Amino acid sequence: MTQALKHYLQFTDLSADEYAYVFTRAALIKKKFKAYEKHHTLADRTLAMIFEKASTRTRVSFEAGMYQMGGAVVHLTTGDSQLGRAEPIEDSAKVISRMVDLVMIRTYGQDKINRFAANSRVPVINGLTNEFHPCQIMADLLTFIEHRGNAAHPLDCLKGRVVAWVGDGNNMANTWLQAADLLGFTVHVSTPSGYEVDPTIAGLVTHSECFKVFADPMQACQGADLVTTDVWTSMGYEAENEARQRAFADWCVDADMMAVAQPNALFMHCLPAHRGEEVSADVIDGDQSVVWDEAENRMHVQKALMEYLLLGRQ
Ligand code: CP
Ligand code: NVA
Repeated sequence: MTQALKHYLQFTDLSADEYAYVFTRAALIKKKFKAYEKHHTLADRTLAMIFEKASTRTRVSFEAGMYQMGGAVVHLTTGDSQLGRAEPIEDSAKVISRMVDLVMIRTYGQDKINRFAANSRVPVINGLTNEFHPCQIMADLLTFIEHRGNAAHPLDCLKGRVVAWVGDGNNMANTWLQAADLLGFTVHVSTPSGYEVDPTIAGLVTHSECFKVFADPMQACQGADLVTTDVWTSMGYEAENEARQRAFADWCVDADMMAVAQPNALFMHCLPAHRGEEVSADVIDGDQSVVWDEAENRMHVQKALMEYLLLGRQ
């Protein structure tokens, strides 16, 4: 089966039913990978990866994932392509999408990836923008399902859960909100003043039921099934670093915060992490932390996503 042109620019671009399929497929693809079984469903397909910001996980997971599915990749950055010399994004999209089957972009404003997609003949995947990081939240949810649910009914274990978001109201926070609204859980958000999450970015109204705001991060963590955080200063915001270091000092996920969450609460971080800033070393390196599973699951879930966007349900 093939698929009509479909982009993955934000979390809401797939329905709950499509996520159920992708998570189940990702579990199968992961199992085959672990057993060294070939899974060459994207043979002869090419993925272009465009990076306007740095990356370790996103690059390795997409590149290794594409090779494992029998495909190939082209790696472009702002510095080594005409993108860095002001070729319009619309022209770049028209050209690149005539030569490859799929495009992944990591860039700044969401408007840029939207403009690329509007001019692309092939599916475009968001590999992180200032506003969203949907591939990471997919990997985080797959990780939660592995630890707390089952692959046959992947979404069931998410319903009614509480995710505590401690830190910046950034691209990860916005995407958690979208996931909560779509999949039926609640995000307890605690950010320093001035760094609040803006629900309208996620397409939500201010009083949406899928999130609650807490001034005190300890209260946000109370009874949570999952505690998660991210760097205080995201890529593109480096000029604010000093002010952020001061503002975020009380938003470090430590053992005290984990102690008020559920006794079996998981800890997640999209990585890269700064021990002693947004998370203490004993938490990120402790028993409740599943950060390495999260990182690995980027690859498995993105393989399922790429296959779905190109071939539809198998
Ligand atoms: N989590 C994540 O996207 O990592 P990279 O910045 O290394 O790709
Ligand atoms: N919020 C972080 C995530 C990095 C993977 C950033 O945008 O830099």
